[in-house]
Amino acid sequence: MLSTLYQFLTSLGYPGPIHPPLTHVPMGLVTGALIFGLVARFFHSEKLTWTARACVILALIFALFTMLFGFMDWQHYYSGGWLHPIKMKLIVAGILVGLLLLAAILGQGRRLPNAAVLVVYALCFFCVAGLGWFGDKLTYSARIDALPEQFHPGVILFINDCYGCHPDGGNLIAPDLQLRWSGKLKNFPRFIQWVRHPKPPMPAFGPSRLTERQAHVLYKYLFDFIWKPEDPSVGASLTNSAATP
Ligand code: HEC
Repeated sequence: MLSTLYQFLTSLGYPGPIHPPLTHVPMGLVTGALIFGLVARFFHSEKLTWTARACVILALIFALFTMLFGFMDWQHYYSGGWLHPIKMKLIVAGILVGLLLLAAILGQGRRLPNAAVLVVYALCFFCVAGLGWFGDKLTYSARIDALPEQFHPGVILFINDCYGCHPDGGNLIAPDLQLRWSGKLKNFPRFIQWVRHPKPPMPAFGPSRLTERQAHVLYKYLFDFIWKPEDPSVGASLTNSAATP
């Protein structure tokens, strides 16, 4: 059912994921609540107190949608794999919702925000910053600028589709099965066979998600920059994985 939704979005010209762009809404609202709250307190402005409160309530509503889509993206793009940044995001998102509720309750009926309300606004702000930080760990930590330009399309595919589970060519879910010395990267036919029909929990990358051309570009990047089969400390595991197609 989920993949139908993502296919539909792709047919509209938006290949997803949905969560990252949506995160900016609660992030902006929480930042707004803190700034309006501080200014309201400083200038004794009742109007801005209400603006801050409206931001909190909208942030709460959008946080729930953002979490729902985050959950869906996680199922679709990471097969629900328990990656460290995902665990942290779930915990911090739970705390954020609790704090937003607390902010809404504490601020009720107040003409100006008191110190407790402002502290809760600030804590909400730290939560959204933390959520952004862990989101970044899932996607942006691979550096693109260090590579020759011709490999950039390959890195981008890698960051979008693989990096969450295989940062720097490792494997967060199955640490023994790293890309770095995987026999599956020995040649393109083996590579494409694997990405089209991998063993779960790795998600399958069918032609609608990774075209043949994209697979070539991705493979070229992996083969030239990630694959290090000569690493002597891992000779044994290469022999093992090379023996089983
Ligand atoms: C949801 C996490 C996840 C994503 C996303 C993911 N993989 Fe994997 N990958 C895995 C897991 C888990 C394994 C080990 C599967 C097993 O048990 O054999 C694996 C194994 C592999 C292997 C074989 C390692 C070996 O020697 O057995 C290759 C090659 C690979 N992945 C490439 C990719 C590429 C390329 C992408 C992106 C297009 C990708 N993976 C995306 C989780 C993921």
